[in-house]
Amino acid sequence: MVRFISAEKTLPLRSEVLREGRPLSACVFPQDIEKGGFHLGYFIEEELIGIASFFLKAHPLAKGIAYQLRGMAIAPNHQGNGFGKKLIDFAKTQLKVTNAQFIWCNARTSAKSFYERLGFEVVSPEFLIEDVGPHYEMLLTLDN
Ligand SMILES: CC(C)(COP(=O)(O)OP(=O)(O)OC[C@H]1O[C@@H](n2cnc3c(N)ncnc32)[C@H](O)[C@@H]1OP(=O)(O)O)[C@@H](O)C(=O)NCCC(=O)NCCS
Repeated sequence: MVRFISAEKTLPLRSEVLREGRPLSACVFPQDIEKGGFHLGYFIEEELIGIASFFLKAHPLAKGIAYQLRGMAIAPNHQGNGFGKKLIDFAKTQLKVTNAQFIWCNARTSAKSFYERLGFEVVSPEFLIEDVGPHYEMLLTLDN
């Protein structure tokens, strides 16, 4: 099931899945402390196995209220079981209540098809994020 969690609770999975085991302090996003954002966790019983963070942030192609998705990660032994999709579906329902119209993200090229299956569209050429790898900007229009 999906629950709201604190930014702090996301750090171990960010480290393991997205930052190659780097220290938790290196996995904090500057936006974590800003108002308007929220963090979701996917739990199997009491085990946190998936995370996603959402921050109120404009995108030039999003003409309306937009949230940036960051730190999307599912524990390696639970990937491919539909939990990532469930996190995004929960966020979509939540964001519609706030009148948000868009979710956008810098998607790893390796995860591009995941986002495309959920309705995101590629809106940039491929670009490199240092120490992480190739990415695309992707944008999802929420049907309100
Ligand atoms: C990418 C990630 C978040 C997807 O979560 P997940 O729980 O594994 O994905 P789901 O099982 O919900 O998949 C939903 C759909 O996307 C597809 N999919 C999932 N990951 C995919 C990938 N990397 N490439 C292509 N398709 C993918 C699934 O096959 C499924 O398709 P279907 O609905 O047609 O069956 C997860 O695999 C992960 O944490 N990967 C490593 C970290 C990462 O890349 N995070 C994203 C950073 S931008």
